Amino acid sequence: MKYHSVSVTIEDKVALVLVDRPEKLNALNKGTIKELGEALGVLEKDRKVRAIILSGAGTKAFVAGADIAEFSEYTESEGRALAADGQRQLFDKIEALKTPVIAAVNGFALGGGLELAMACHFRVASTNAKMGLPEVSLGVIPGYGGTQRLPMLVGRGRAMEMILTGGMIKAEKALEYGLVNHITAQEELLEFCRTLAGQVAKNSPAAISSAIKAVNAGFSSSKPGFEAEIDAFGDCFGTADFKEGTRAFLEKRAPDFPGA
Ligand code: COA
Repeated sequence: MKYHSVSVTIEDKVALVLVDRPEKLNALNKGTIKELGEALGVLEKDRKVRAIILSGAGTKAFVAGADIAEFSEYTESEGRALAADGQRQLFDKIEALKTPVIAAVNGFALGGGLELAMACHFRVASTNAKMGLPEVSLGVIPGYGGTQRLPMLVGRGRAMEMILTGGMIKAEKALEYGLVNHITAQEELLEFCRTLAGQVAKNSPAAISSAIKAVNAGFSSSKPGFEAEIDAFGDCFGTADFKEGTRAFLEKRAPDFPGA
């Protein structure tokens, strides 16, 4: 299958999926989300693929977030649909995928990019990686599961600090937080992930998919949280803060939030 902004290569039962828009730091627009969801769906059905590594093209970014240029003019209902469709088409789909997905975080993983990494089954980062949920600096909140998956991974207090400050953390801090499992030099990241994927690939695919299902079941009580996130995300699109925040980003200036 041919994709515009996603590339897939398969070697020794392990698929490498790259988000491939390096000129926009691999920002996720609707088309990329749809393609990624489709590509992962195809790989899940491929019996020769036993593990998937997800990373970003280029050396600068894993994914620098949802595409701000695409959603800056959205209304509240369009915002709500953006979050709901994205969660269903991609983020929830990855979490529930029968084939394990390892995120190889090779640079900036911000906003939707960190949410993408967090939807994967586990994460490895390169030493230059920087992670954060900067949405509040734009007048919006995380809408692809970030308000739910970050506290599950790092605890409520650390998640609150990251979400409310909108700041970035470096790879070492992410390791200390348990947000990533390992850190490696950037040039060794994919090889390191291939070794881990190779270990997974030796195991029973039936048992692996059951294990994923069982682990996820333990967190299913948070379902109402994901729905609340979609509603709150949509509400942001009706605020003057959101208009100012996204406009300021696109005009490459600091925002001056009116507070509504
Ligand atoms: N959406 C749309 N475009 C994005 C983007 C995003 N999330 N992140 C980066 N880009 C684009 C930039 O607009 C720029 O495009 P241009 O060359 O056409 O102007 C290009 O990618 C390169 O980014 P730039 O900002 O010039 O790189 P930098 O090294 O100066 O800064 C970041 C890197 C990651 C700090 C900065 O791009 C950034 O803050 N991105 C947005 C992060 C964010 O808020 N994500 C959450 C979105 S909800």
